[in-house]
Amino acid sequence: MPRPQRWGAAELERLSAMVTQPSLFYWRGPQTTALLDEFRRRYPLNFCFPTSSGTAALHVAIAALRLKPGDEVIVPAITDMGSVIGILYQQAVPVFADLEPQTYNLDPADVCRRITAKTRALMPVHLAGNPCDMSALMAIAREHRLQVIEDCAQAWGARWRGQPVGLQGNLACFSFNDYKHVSCGDGGLVATNQLELGTGLGKWGDKFYDRETGGRDPLELAPNYRMSEPQAAVAAAQLTKLEQIVANRHRAGTRLTEQLAGAAGLRLPSVQTADTHSYWFYLLRLDRERLAVSRDEFAQALTNAGVSCTPGYIPRPVYRYPVFQQHNFFSGHWPVRELGLTQMDYRQVRCPEAEAILEDSVKLTINEAMDDAYIDEVAAVVRDVARAAAR
Ligand SMILES: Cc1ncc(COP(=O)(O)O)c(C=O)c1O
Repeated sequence: MPRPQRWGAAELERLSAMVTQPSLFYWRGPQTTALLDEFRRRYPLNFCFPTSSGTAALHVAIAALRLKPGDEVIVPAITDMGSVIGILYQQAVPVFADLEPQTYNLDPADVCRRITAKTRALMPVHLAGNPCDMSALMAIAREHRLQVIEDCAQAWGARWRGQPVGLQGNLACFSFNDYKHVSCGDGGLVATNQLELGTGLGKWGDKFYDRETGGRDPLELAPNYRMSEPQAAVAAAQLTKLEQIVANRHRAGTRLTEQLAGAAGLRLPSVQTADTHSYWFYLLRLDRERLAVSRDEFAQALTNAGVSCTPGYIPRPVYRYPVFQQHNFFSGHWPVRELGLTQMDYRQVRCPEAEAILEDSVKLTINEAMDDAYIDEVAAVVRDVARAAAR
């Protein structure tokens, strides 16, 4: 498999400049300023706060909404733990909704079924870089007066109807962890255009200190999720490469779908025609009625033929993780439930489509170094394995 050289001269140049600085603290740091400039060039969002991780960015976003204990946030059943950690730490309740079978994103119809009097926010996760159905989700949000936090951690460079994802909701969150399109090892960013959310945004990730005034008498409880200058230097350099990385990944993923179209036994990811999928990975599903092998055997056959893949994505929907099944959020306790502020019982939650996706999917690696010839080789192997496994 071709592998990209992810870091080089651009990062070194920023890091060299950085070591001549008197301080590596983020506030008015030149690397942080460069990161914000690069980010805003691509995402016109006025209020931005770089964080130590994507999880931290999402926690800051949730905190900025000032939810009350027991308030509910609707999230997809397939996502990273980072989407829900901040919700739980703010004593709010993640409510899992099911997914569309071919985009693997929040199903607007199921979102509607999960809305209650306590629902305050929706968190669309643009899974693998495929934009969610934002027109339907924003319409639901308007009707029920819900805030929308877009989790763009996997969707750098993805576009919904031509616009970068992250501009439709109230708040947008990104990750710079090592596996993402652009990385600084670990890092994140939370952003908004809304004055009422934006003015305090940085405080929610900086102990609620007021850096503008130097005030250190916090009015609220907030952690330290600051990103420091070394991470910002690398992240700023990485963003200058985003367009090329996304163009290559988009071409690779789109070509793979073209090459696999019509192959019996395969269900390919679907993308709305006006959208740009940025292919953080490529998830295809197997039609088990038409294939005589198990999903794991199919993935093993691909691996044996040299194709980088894993069976499925996460092992099970997030609500099935032991921490949720045992409501083991705070040393064996879940105060909001013990206080009667929620009746949520994760042992009763079912999202059938999410469960099916995780049982019948295979995740193929996509990266920006894969050219057309390599993608065609991968497609040929997948088609051969499907043909050999046909009933
Ligand atoms: C959808 C999604 N949300 C949130 C996160 C959390 O990001 P981080 O690992 O930077 O904390 C990730 C990371 O994998 C993710 O994929």
